[in-house]
Amino acid sequence: MPILEIKNLRVEKEGKEIIRNINLKLEKGKVYALMGPNGSGKSTLAQVLMGSKSYNLSGSVIFNNEDITNAPANERAKKGIFLSFQYPTEVQGVTISSFLRTAYNAISEKKMNVLEFHNFLKKNAKKLGIDENFLSRFLNLGFSGGEKKKSDILQMLVLNPKFVILDETDSGLDVDSLKTVAEGIKNFISKEKTVLLITHYKKMLEYIKPDEIFIMKNGKIVKSGGSELAEELEKKGYAGIK
Ligand SMILES: Nc1ncnc2c1ncn2[C@@H]1O[C@H](COP(=O)(O)OP(=O)(O)OP(=O)(O)O)[C@@H](O)[C@H]1O
Ligand SMILES: [Mg+2]
Repeated sequence: MPILEIKNLRVEKEGKEIIRNINLKLEKGKVYALMGPNGSGKSTLAQVLMGSKSYNLSGSVIFNNEDITNAPANERAKKGIFLSFQYPTEVQGVTISSFLRTAYNAISEKKMNVLEFHNFLKKNAKKLGIDENFLSRFLNLGFSGGEKKKSDILQMLVLNPKFVILDETDSGLDVDSLKTVAEGIKNFISKEKTVLLITHYKKMLEYIKPDEIFIMKNGKIVKSGGSELAEELEKKGYAGIK
């Protein structure tokens, strides 16, 4: 039984068809990569899977044997779905620490008080080389590109979701940060987790080897294959993908 199944999914916004009939089955314990040219619909798919209300859609999304097509984002988060956005929003007045504690307590059975949470957060931040002082900054406010990505991965570690979609988490990271972030993700991956990595670059897929790569073009999955597909892509470009 797949953990996530997408059936005949079509997504439209303001008269523009962005996703045209996608069918996908993702298995528990596997890592998938989603690649494709700019504007092919990858982020839209990610946002629809997380429950964005800003699109019209038809078809269905089944998660863990449950139809979640119309479930709101907060319910999906509770069920264990996580999305790291390509462009995270800045939140004035809310520190990373308090944001994450609120998010954690909203979706977890076990609630943590400020002190408990602080220690738990510090431990996870350390894994990503994030300085303790950084945790009291306002969420995403004035963060560098790399800092945003790292704080997203920190959020993932804290929330411990079952199904993770990472939308270009590797973009804008320097070589060392890319390695740290990739290791963070790698250590998180287990046979209980399913990961969908949206990326433009082969580098990330060298750190985290996907079980399967999907190529999206013009709102459709046009090809799937193993890691060798990323190599092929680098050589031939998307035009060469038949
Ligand atoms: N609100 C909107 N109104 C009109 N078109 C939209 C809207 N949102 C997205 N689109 C269009 O849908 C298409 C898919 O966008 P999307 O962000 O999903 O692409 P992507 O594959 O993630 O691209 P990239 O690799 O550049 O991140 C684009 O052509 C985009 O302009
Ligand atoms: Mg995108």
